[in-house]
Amino acid sequence: MNPSTTEPPSTQSRKADHIRICLEEDVQCRQATSGLENYRFTHCCLPELDYQDIDLKAKFLHKQLGAPILISSMTGGTSQAGMINQRLAQVAQQYNLAMGVGSQRVAVEKPEVADTFAMRKYAPDALLFANLGAVQLNYEYGLEQCLKAIDILQANALILHINPLQECIQPRGDKNFRGLFDKINNLCSKLPLPVIAKEVGNGISVHMAQKLIEAGVAAIDVAGTGGTSWAKVESERAENSLQQRLGRTFSDWGLSTAECITSIRAIAPDIPLIASGGLRHGLDAGKAIALGANLAGFAMPFLKAAADSEEAVDELAQILIAELKTVLFCTGNQNLKQLQNSDSLIG
Ligand SMILES: Cc1cc2nc3c(=O)[nH]c(=O)nc-3n(C[C@H](O)[C@H](O)[C@H](O)COP(=O)(O)O)c2cc1C
Repeated sequence: MNPSTTEPPSTQSRKADHIRICLEEDVQCRQATSGLENYRFTHCCLPELDYQDIDLKAKFLHKQLGAPILISSMTGGTSQAGMINQRLAQVAQQYNLAMGVGSQRVAVEKPEVADTFAMRKYAPDALLFANLGAVQLNYEYGLEQCLKAIDILQANALILHINPLQECIQPRGDKNFRGLFDKINNLCSKLPLPVIAKEVGNGISVHMAQKLIEAGVAAIDVAGTGGTSWAKVESERAENSLQQRLGRTFSDWGLSTAECITSIRAIAPDIPLIASGGLRHGLDAGKAIALGANLAGFAMPFLKAAADSEEAVDELAQILIAELKTVLFCTGNQNLKQLQNSDSLIG
């Protein structure tokens, strides 16, 4: 979709391309999976619970949520993106879920599109995450731009997305990642809100997680493989055969969501941890939480629903919640803590 009547600047048209490609093309990983399919729950035939007592409440970064579900960072910057964000924000408010917006670089540079990210008015009580690319810290971004992104959304925390593979493939990608740990460290010490480090579908290794924690991030979203492949998305936008070939070659690159969660949780028992990348239903969310995640993030499923209608987003939230409750009920666990402390998951 052309976002405006005039020639759009490149960051804005990229946003429109991403939505169109994600909705129209097959951009899911082909062979790489989330790893969650390797786990099964033990069925409990006598849960000794009343279903109505199942409690999905979760705490993340000191905020109480109705369910451990994150609508992952996706978009903003065009009128279509603004509508998608609004539909997502209303549902985040309705069910008390967490929500992220897409990279706000376009709004920092073009204040007239800031309202397509300004979701606080639709979600006054929700846990909202601002979003900027970590690599922008090497391209003249600093505390001021981060505060601006937070201010636009009136966010509770800032996600710094880390996307080296995507930058390699996309036209004119920002590929200088040198010195970023120090810059993240500096930002974390100055920003008055928590910083969350997040990949975009290639995963965060235990070694990188350790260094990010040392740099001061308050939480990690592993965004592993198995779902949307940004190499594939960018190969669909390629301007030449080299970019197209790169995107195809690396379409399944990365670490699975399950392996990231288990390995990071093993060395950092207390770090707030988000599982995302390839989660497609509440059963996936249940497995990710049983493996040690605090929140389960979904991007593509919410994009498809939001592009459809307000009702579709509402219905998706209800389905995810019902699926997650069913996991708890049929494993005999009343709440998320019990699920995490149980031996219900085998794999
Ligand atoms: C249309 C679209 C745009 C996205 N834009 C961003 C972004 O700006 N910043 C970010 O951190 N992640 C972005 N992502 C990545 C998602 O947050 C998520 O990490 C990734 O898609 C894997 O999750 P999934 O398999 O549920 O789609 C985007 C995803 C989609 C589908």
